[in-house]
Amino acid sequence: MSEQARKTAEGLVYLTGFGNEHSSEAVPGALPIARNSPQVAPLGLYAEQLSGSAFTEPRTHNRRSWLYRIRPSAAHPPFTRIDNGDLRTAPFTETVPDPNRLRWNPLPDPAPGTDFLSGLWTLGGNGDATQRAGMAIHLYAANASMTDRVFSDSDGELLIVPERGGLLLRTEFGVLAAEPGHVALIPRGVRFRVELLDADARGYVCENYGQPFELPGLGPIGANGLAAARDFQAPVAAYEDVEGPVEVVNKFCGNLWSATYDHSPLDVVAWHGTHVPYVYDLRRFNVIGTISYDHPDPSIFTVLTSPSDTPGLAGVDFVVFAPRWLVGEDTFRPPYFHRNVMSEYMGLIEGAYDAKAEGFVPGGGSLHNMMSAHGPDRETFDKASAAELKPQKIDDGLAFMFETRWPITATAQAAAADHLQQGYDDVWQGLQRHFRA
Ligand SMILES: [Fe+2]
Repeated sequence: MSEQARKTAEGLVYLTGFGNEHSSEAVPGALPIARNSPQVAPLGLYAEQLSGSAFTEPRTHNRRSWLYRIRPSAAHPPFTRIDNGDLRTAPFTETVPDPNRLRWNPLPDPAPGTDFLSGLWTLGGNGDATQRAGMAIHLYAANASMTDRVFSDSDGELLIVPERGGLLLRTEFGVLAAEPGHVALIPRGVRFRVELLDADARGYVCENYGQPFELPGLGPIGANGLAAARDFQAPVAAYEDVEGPVEVVNKFCGNLWSATYDHSPLDVVAWHGTHVPYVYDLRRFNVIGTISYDHPDPSIFTVLTSPSDTPGLAGVDFVVFAPRWLVGEDTFRPPYFHRNVMSEYMGLIEGAYDAKAEGFVPGGGSLHNMMSAHGPDRETFDKASAAELKPQKIDDGLAFMFETRWPITATAQAAAADHLQQGYDDVWQGLQRHFRA
């Protein structure tokens, strides 16, 4: 299976640009011209609109796509509840919010036959999915491709951050490949299937219940910088004309519901619109930092932001710590000591992070909740305080952060996990007093 998926991944072509009004047809003539819903759609297809925003939201936030499909999505049998597995949804009430700094090792290896959906494991989150506010942090570990089933999430969009193993994402809009170092975004409600490009796969998912992710404003940075719109890649239309049972699993207000269709719902022959999946290679991120002293707040590393009703206050930001030069003069160069009204979950895609010498490993993660004190560990502090300040390239790691406006409450399984590290506080023990009056 992974060989076939790999071959498909290598032949993929994409449309480029963030937020574009894309259009694509897998069969010439499948897209109607100059109207969305003609009396009879081309090639005997059904026209269907998928709305990712209210009809009346401003153009800057309005998202919808028109899909031209073999059967309308409405043609399905009733959904019935199935077990939620290790998926949990806001409001998170299984534990009390914890002010302690927490850190986890990677998820244990999954049982044989675990696919992306059954391998999802919720760490925690905030807000309320039914209010379309807040977010959840999931991890996944899988060793099997999804076969004969697809998934869609009515509760939010899914920002997938592979850490180990590539993913082939077969969506209603076409096919995407996401390797470690890429991120993939599946919009709210879009059905997709995950096939593995390697023997196994592991990574992180930010489920964003709020406003869809968008590119941050650049302010005085100017017209260019950070993530470039043209580096976001959307799929071209590709459809499955498959008759036969396909399980469709829908996450709806926190629960999984299943219906068995008599055909594949990935049967969209053509589409156009703005509510589309995409992939982005984090190594293309244009990293901006100081060329004098100090370093900017890590918001300078924001790839995508989900705005709230308050300007500048994100529901959740996705931030990457990509390879970069450090040149600040008379500057403590690692990330500074910090207490923050926002809550920070950090993960590591590869290598090491420059504020933590040990214990923060690829596939693991740390949670620094609202106002919890954090910063470099003792070893990093000592080293950086004595370092000769030559220009220095940080190029051995790729870390990221989900930074969110509300405290993150852990799930019961995360709070009691064997892979929750004991003694994380110890990394800040032994910071010597140097004060001399
Ligand atoms: Fe911080």
